[in-house]
Amino acid sequence: MLGQLVLWVKIAMFTDHVMGYACFCADEASCGSPRWIGRGLSCVCIKRKGAYERICMNLTPVQEERLQRLKHRMKVYFDPSRRDHQEALKALWHATYPDQELQGLVSEQWKDMGWQGRDPSTDFRGAGFISLENLLFFAKTFSASFQRLLKKQCGNRATWEYPFAVAGVNITFMIMQMLDLQSKDECAFDLLYCVAFVVMDKQWLDKNASYMDFNEVLKSTRTQLERELVLDDVMRIEDMPSYNLLC
Ligand SMILES: *[C@@H]1O[C@H](CO)[C@@H](O)[C@H](O)[C@H]1NC(C)=O
Ligand SMILES: *[C@@H]1O[C@H](CO)[C@@H](O)[C@H](O)[C@H]1NC(C)=O
Repeated sequence: MLGQLVLWVKIAMFTDHVMGYACFCADEASCGSPRWIGRGLSCVCIKRKGAYERICMNLTPVQEERLQRLKHRMKVYFDPSRRDHQEALKALWHATYPDQELQGLVSEQWKDMGWQGRDPSTDFRGAGFISLENLLFFAKTFSASFQRLLKKQCGNRATWEYPFAVAGVNITFMIMQMLDLQSKDECAFDLLYCVAFVVMDKQWLDKNASYMDFNEVLKSTRTQLERELVLDDVMRIEDMPSYNLLC
């Protein structure tokens, strides 16, 4: 319970803005009952490097705007008739396979990337347009890690591998659940997504998993992320031990 709360507060802190923080009191005994302070002023006491500390911050207009933007982003469905969505899908193809021409927004080629069928848009249903943005961010920002996972280059792989792109959508969905749609910053979300993807692949290999075990692997990925996020020294996504898996 406390772990959950601390996790939530920390994610809110990475993001630098919140609708209202849960406020803990300064000793462990009374930490169980968070209190909502409301919008604007955000305060929280957390244990940091062994001592309890109270952190307060104001919600600036910029932070407010960021929060609204991300909330909006999470509600956008993939719409195959929208020009900008089509462009994003093409951009994903080019970032993934720079040397291969894309034959169409609906094409057999998409299966190579680990979509379930010829039309990736049917797989976005779970998480929406943001799952495409997450994949694109990952492909562009950590292209070596992205290619390594895509091509399944590392380790002793299963005969029944997880489909790469679909797993990406599942990870977006998992992080949206973890953040509880309450508070987050766009960049923290994108970074956490990339960390989650490489952690998932690592657990996949460590467990010698096959696609039948995907749910289990996703669950233990979440546990691992939560464990790292509540570590005393982790004050940013970049501080998470697993961030080092990215290159
Ligand atoms: C993963 O995403 C696919 C495509 O959206 C969906 O069909 C599947 O049920 C999801 N699986 C999990 C474990 O979330
Ligand atoms: C991993 O699974 C494969 C079958 O998919 C099996 O042949 C192999 O022995 C397993 N390796 C370990 C270390 O469990």
